[in-house]
Amino acid sequence: MDRKRIIVGVAGGIAAYKACSLVRQLTESGHHVRVVPTASALRFVGAATFEALSGHPVHTGVFDDVPEVPHVRIGQDADLVVVAPATADLLARAVAGRADDLLTATLLTARCPVLFAPAMHTEMWQHPATVDNVATLRRRGAVVLEPASGRLTGADSGPGRLPEPEEIATLAELLLTRPDAMPHDLTGVRMLVTAGGTREPLDPVRFIGNRSSGKQGYAVARVAAQRGAEVTLIAGHTAGLADPAGVEVVRIGSATELRDAVSKHAPDANVLVMSAAVADFRPAQFVATKIKKGAEEPTEIVLTRNDDVLAGAVRSRAEGQLPNMRVIVGFAAETGDANGDVLFHARGKLARKGCDLLVVNAVGDGRAFEVDNNDGWLLGADGAESALEHGSKTQMASRIVDAVAALLRDGA
Ligand code: CTP
Repeated sequence: MDRKRIIVGVAGGIAAYKACSLVRQLTESGHHVRVVPTASALRFVGAATFEALSGHPVHTGVFDDVPEVPHVRIGQDADLVVVAPATADLLARAVAGRADDLLTATLLTARCPVLFAPAMHTEMWQHPATVDNVATLRRRGAVVLEPASGRLTGADSGPGRLPEPEEIATLAELLLTRPDAMPHDLTGVRMLVTAGGTREPLDPVRFIGNRSSGKQGYAVARVAAQRGAEVTLIAGHTAGLADPAGVEVVRIGSATELRDAVSKHAPDANVLVMSAAVADFRPAQFVATKIKKGAEEPTEIVLTRNDDVLAGAVRSRAEGQLPNMRVIVGFAAETGDANGDVLFHARGKLARKGCDLLVVNAVGDGRAFEVDNNDGWLLGADGAESALEHGSKTQMASRIVDAVAALLRDGA
């Protein structure tokens, strides 16, 4: 893989300890990482930790190592600057164009993408000064992540938590592959995303499930939320994925629960992304007590059909019950067979389901399920077809969200 130069700026907040995991993840991905903390960051985490993790010396001031002119060179040479955590004070200094330490000087000289991952108390995040500073940085082209909600230091909780290091690393990788992948262009858009697999209960301990990991849907929710959308994620069973920052997560088990959750949230949504692997059938009967093996030969499991949630949403919109709904996205996992290839089946599915966009994955041979990389096609109801080049599920998500954003822009 392409080895990039990443600067990890660390400002002085308690979340500075999470920057250690971020540095670790970026170096393990093969990148050349240099840590530039502020002096206050070093009151939380020692320079030795950052030096050991990055393999490079750590300085905070512009008068260290002067012959190397680091206050100019570090920023100039970088492929990406990630500031995590970005405190209210650091954001303010970045907006003011200050250069009173090595990190702010680096921000002034960087010509590469800059990603700020804010972390602070809710009051500070919501203060008009910070709100304006974030808007200014975004207007200048920086990516400022939405913080996560949850426990902050002390007893309080609310928006202001640093997104998980893995999430920051994923979005950093996305910016490295495509610097313009995260415009803040979806404010005011309400998006409903379903993800993961459903589980159809047979008895209190058994179910019929599937191999969906939820990664693709989670990536769509994450990217859309970071582009400014208000995202509700209806999550079935996943591979233990952490909630994406800034996303409301509703948990469901079975296809029926998923259908009910979509019915509840769809009237408010402008976009529905159906990436969940919804079981087509469920056991006709739920046995309230554990089925015993007994001495008899096993009985057959009789199945009954589940509602098609995607087709149901398309129908409701056509009947005028979802006046806010502008874009409906379906997913298709296809193998191709004697009747036709993957795209042949996908075109048929798009027509049958009546959605606006269909994301098509070729499956089988270990592709698509439970893996991190993926490829496929994006088919539009207008006949548009584009290949989704091989890449991470986050890269694919960003292309899917691009296509949704384009439809919204075109007045969908
Ligand atoms: N889907 C749904 N409700 C179901 C089954 C599927 O909403 N009960 C949605 C999935 O979330 C996905 C799309 O429909 O967006 C495609 O699902 P798939 O199972 O591949 O399509 P089917 O029409 O069931 O076709 P087939 O099983 O013949 O491939």
